[in-house]
Amino acid sequence: HRGLVGIAGLAPHEIMFLLDEAQQWVELNRHAQKRRDLLSGLTIINAFFENSTRTLLSFEIAGKRLGADVVNMAVATSSVKKGETLIDTAMTLNSMRADAIAIRHGSSGAVQLIADKVDCPVINAGDGQHEHPTQALLDALTIRQAKRAFNGLRVTICGDILHSRVARSNILCLTSLGAEVRVCAPPALMPADIERMNVQVFHDFDAALRNADVVMMLRLQLERMQGQFIPSPREYRHLYGLSLERLAKAESNALVMHPGPMNRGIEIDSNVADLVDRSMITTQVEMGVAIRMACLDVLTRKARGLEGWA
Ligand code: CP
Repeated sequence: HRGLVGIAGLAPHEIMFLLDEAQQWVELNRHAQKRRDLLSGLTIINAFFENSTRTLLSFEIAGKRLGADVVNMAVATSSVKKGETLIDTAMTLNSMRADAIAIRHGSSGAVQLIADKVDCPVINAGDGQHEHPTQALLDALTIRQAKRAFNGLRVTICGDILHSRVARSNILCLTSLGAEVRVCAPPALMPADIERMNVQVFHDFDAALRNADVVMMLRLQLERMQGQFIPSPREYRHLYGLSLERLAKAESNALVMHPGPMNRGIEIDSNVADLVDRSMITTQVEMGVAIRMACLDVLTRKARGLEGWA
């Protein structure tokens, strides 16, 4: 059984395959009758040990649209609160014979740990500062719809790169597809290993925006800070916030993206987040359902007796 722990495990043609598979669900999801029975009889468990709006709901909707039985583990009222370990929790889910498990966890590597213990495909719905592969796939699908090709596309990712699994997965995904990725953050919020990631590093947001085709903004992950020096919200907006004036430094048709949740008025101004045609933020959410449908379909093909994910 092959799951999806990270973009790092995917070849470029596999990324493109998942984007192509998702495209059919984009079309279906725009109809009133959205339900298919492809995964009828399968049980999918969503186990989210960290908060989520978009990812949890879209995994649930994706599973239901494909006809699966979807169960959301209520972590806050589960036996995790009585001290049950992650591995014992994973073994418990495994014994219930789930056909796929989507997991979000606050610790980097927790999803791989569970994937090594269970008998079904495990999908990483975000683990610590490590990866959020379905987010990168939905972002790539959003970009492909608007820009058609990735080769040579200039993508600027700005914000708390250090703590961002979204940044890490997007860097891996977009560079693998041929885009030119620029990352921009205050020095304290840039990972020490960034030079190894095939990106251009900036601390000056205006310079990072020059001729950008896509501008992806990230929030400050205050819940993961461990004493890093960060500017005040007002100063942060001044240095790293995306205003209309600043966006004008990018290409005139540059896309604006944000994985959410947004902190309006800090990393992105409301009039930028709500720009008609240019802001892709609601499109990203829409693509998220299609990508998760594609992942659930493709990753359970082997279990359904179909030709599996190689
Ligand atoms: N983008 C994202 O992962 O959002 P949620 O935390 O709401 O799932």
